Amino acid sequence: MNSSAGSDSFEQAGRGRRGLKTVPTVNPWDPRNLIAFRRDTLDFLTKSRARYGDIFKFHIFGHPMIMINHPDYVEHVLVHRADKYTKQSAFIFELTAPVLGNGLIRNPGGPAYTRQRNMMQPTFRPNTVPLFVQNMIDETVLMMDRWRPLVDTDRVANITDDVGQTALRIVTRSLFSADVGESARDFELAFAEANNVIGTFFRRPLSMLGLRRKRLRTATEQMKSFISAFVERRIANQEVRDDLLGMLMRATYEDDGATMSMKQLHDEVLNLVIAAFETTTSGISWAFYLIATHPEVERRFLEEIDTKLQGRAPTYGDLNKLTYTRMIVDETLRLYSPAYQTMRRSVEEDDMHGYRIPANMDIYLNSHVTHRHPAFWDDAEKFDPERFTPERSAGRPKHAYFPFGSGPRVCIGKYFALAELQLILATVAQRFRLVVPPDQAPMEAEQLITLHPKDGVRLLVRSR
Ligand code: HEM
Repeated sequence: MNSSAGSDSFEQAGRGRRGLKTVPTVNPWDPRNLIAFRRDTLDFLTKSRARYGDIFKFHIFGHPMIMINHPDYVEHVLVHRADKYTKQSAFIFELTAPVLGNGLIRNPGGPAYTRQRNMMQPTFRPNTVPLFVQNMIDETVLMMDRWRPLVDTDRVANITDDVGQTALRIVTRSLFSADVGESARDFELAFAEANNVIGTFFRRPLSMLGLRRKRLRTATEQMKSFISAFVERRIANQEVRDDLLGMLMRATYEDDGATMSMKQLHDEVLNLVIAAFETTTSGISWAFYLIATHPEVERRFLEEIDTKLQGRAPTYGDLNKLTYTRMIVDETLRLYSPAYQTMRRSVEEDDMHGYRIPANMDIYLNSHVTHRHPAFWDDAEKFDPERFTPERSAGRPKHAYFPFGSGPRVCIGKYFALAELQLILATVAQRFRLVVPPDQAPMEAEQLITLHPKDGVRLLVRSR
């Protein structure tokens, strides 16, 4: 699997204890590596994979981590040996501790994690998603109404800002049955700040000192108080509701029948809003951009929407029929996987398909890189939704594609997110085409904690 392992800036991959191979190491003393990593991390990692193969060790400012790129390795860590690769002390999750607290996203793992996940899981089963479909459609219609002054003019809409507001309003309405009004914008700005400060830290650790650390603290406080206002109001009014918050407040632990503590509830709710808002915003923004830049895809997409929906609003039941739209979503999440990087730490020494993984080693997974692995994806940079037809998917290893993670820690909001992406695309397509303005430079991805469209996707709104 590591047939392309290089040699010059690597230690020789030798055979170590128990006959296991030693993971090749990118030379941490070669300044060119550090410069390349800082300049464009994804480019550096993609080139390193091409040059050195499916598993290699690299260092972030002296901190070693092993990057795995092959689907079998991804499956090993996320699925088969998930109990031996936890989030406990893993670098990325230490970094995000001030924001995420002890919510599900950075819960270290082990029995306490399983207890928490089992309690929350029923709230996010696919059969609860239809309860929130109307929120998704209503908020999309409101977004289109806000576009009215721009329609058929040469004024450009910042789709990412608009979808961001919509995605935040969808998740908060689904959680709290409340209209977040103007405070949505404050939350978005606070989140952008945190995403920026933490995302930059990965490449520039010194940036976390002084002023930027203070900015992160302020942004975190703003996000927490946004959430607290809704939770406190619900408790004070003793309201019983069938929204996500209501379900989570009534959910009980399997072992002792207790409900969640208030502190835990606050952490979980903030985790959900954060996990749901930026990932879907980024996914939908990229999808609109890719559709707008690929006329043949757009033609087939509009044809599907017109023939299958015949002008009526989509329902949850329609989603299975919108097969081409779903392939667009899948292909967008392949090319621009919003939650593109994660990490685990090995609890003990392990044999990963013949390689020795030491105990307490950070394992770095990057779906952006694996989603372009040439052994599994032809012409990987090409936007080609039909890669996801059953015929062309046959034989492709499951973990060549993992935009929602996998195994016991797979994204809890996966079904919510997939429905939201498809519904927003379908609802907008019935009224508008989004068009790239003349002479616009190609979009770039900003490598933060999420893969964000740099400066936002900007498109013209044309009535159909
Ligand atoms: C396109 C949208 C989304 C993408 C690409 C995405 C991606 C991911 C990924 C890759 C993970 C696993 C991270 C890891 O293994 O370390 C994850 C976890 C998680 N996601 Fe999502 N997500 C999306 C939307 C959502 C939504 C809408 C929600 C909530 C309503 C949500 C809630 C969560 C939570 C709570 C976790 C942590 C689960 C756990 O560790 O038990 N996500 N997501």
